[in-house]
Amino acid sequence: MRINDNAAARLKELGAELRPGVSLTELTSLGIGGTTDQILLSRYESIPQVMRLLAAENIPHKFLGGGTNVLISDGELPWVILHLPKANPGMRVEGNCAYVDASADLGGMVTFCAKHDLGGMEGLIGVPGSVGGALRMNAGAYGTQIGPHVREVELYRAATGEIETLRGSEIRFDYRHTSFAPEDVMLRVKLELPSKPFKEILAGIKVCNEKRRSSQPLNQKSAGCIFKNPPGGSAGRMIDELGLKGHRVGDAMVSDRHANFFVNTDRATCSDMLKLIDDVRQRVRQANGVELENEVILWRN
Ligand code: EPU
Repeated sequence: MRINDNAAARLKELGAELRPGVSLTELTSLGIGGTTDQILLSRYESIPQVMRLLAAENIPHKFLGGGTNVLISDGELPWVILHLPKANPGMRVEGNCAYVDASADLGGMVTFCAKHDLGGMEGLIGVPGSVGGALRMNAGAYGTQIGPHVREVELYRAATGEIETLRGSEIRFDYRHTSFAPEDVMLRVKLELPSKPFKEILAGIKVCNEKRRSSQPLNQKSAGCIFKNPPGGSAGRMIDELGLKGHRVGDAMVSDRHANFFVNTDRATCSDMLKLIDDVRQRVRQANGVELENEVILWRN
């Protein structure tokens, strides 16, 4: 999708930087995705105006955070990509509360809080992605989820076209799912965290890092787990038990380290990855009578 000259000029007036024809292979952890124009916002406060402008100009759009949990179509994409300001994201601590911008790196936030003797998020340390993405998906690992710590979220609400603040109690955080609308944009979060000495938090972080290193393909291109775990079960174990580690479609492959991670071994396309996902889902359905649900978010054109 190309931004027309009129819209480009007005976006610049709103402080946005435009990058034409960007390949999303560069902006996603899977290294998969087509090409489109990219808009980098300079201020959160400009979002309502930018959104009104894009609506008036009929320019479909999507906000991309860390790009670590999305599978994006190949080819020329029918929407532009927006990014929140990334440089020097705000993070501060006041008592037991941390105030963090959504564009901050999730791991960076965990260590920042740890340095202020605030713990409870050790399990999230190796989860790649932004704080905004973690909020939207209610990211979790090793018994920790971000949701229970959330006291307030400042967000752009698509329904009203305004920036609003929701209390934690107004948001539903379920397993890898939240009550935010798909078009809402997370901007800032207030978390309340338990006090814990830095050294203790560090020890917890070390344990999680070791567990992750020993069971997940961290040095390969992936989007983390492809499927949600079915109630009471493990998608990874089911796929593994079917002997599917190493199974591939083109350069899309079931990791030989963790069977719920599908990796891009070189130049996998979205179409390869989707075929692999469908194939594995079908095999698990036939063998176990379980319909696996995607954990990765699909952006299809
Ligand atoms: N297992 C196998 N073979 C495999 C993978 C796993 O037998 O190839 C077995 C393990 O031995 C273990 C069980 O399955 O007994 C569960 O495996 P694991 O501890 O790796 O956890 P998981 O349920 O596969 C979940 C999250 C991960 C998170 C880990 C650690 C989901 C879909 N996945 O994985 O999150 O890192 O727990 O807490 O909930 C993600 O969200 O993208 C993600 C990777």
